[in-house]
Amino acid sequence: MKLMVLSGALMLGLLSTQPVNAASIYAGQARAAAVCSQCHGIKTPSADAPFPPLAGRDFAYLKSALEQYRDKTRKNDIMNALAGSLSDDDIANVAAYYAEIKP
Ligand code: HEC
Repeated sequence: MKLMVLSGALMLGLLSTQPVNAASIYAGQARAAAVCSQCHGIKTPSADAPFPPLAGRDFAYLKSALEQYRDKTRKNDIMNALAGSLSDDDIANVAAYYAEIKP
């Protein structure tokens, strides 16, 4: 009995840690669709909107920009407020998602 519980826990551990890369893009997609796309769009922001495009940009650039907004070394009221609630994983996920899209 104990063994079964243990191996069950091990299996769950494997399942939840293995497909990190694939899963993170899906998590990023959900957040982008719900939040970021309202300003940035997915592939491109709407033509008359003053928002920088994110699709197809460098993963490392997007990630560091979001980290800078979060710790307020890069100042912008909107993005500081938005990034303030993102975890490291959230940032990596959404950066991975936008970096994957072809604009
Ligand atoms: C309410 C509108 C709004 C929303 C929603 C929004 N942003 Fe932004 N974002 C902006 C504005 C405005 C800027 C330009 C800020 C500046 O000049 O630094 C910006 C800039 C950025 C930049 C820097 C781009 C560059 O070229 O340096 C990144 C990265 C970014 N946003 C990511 C995101 C992500 C990821 C989300 C979703 C979690 C998001 N934004 C949601 C308005 C928004």
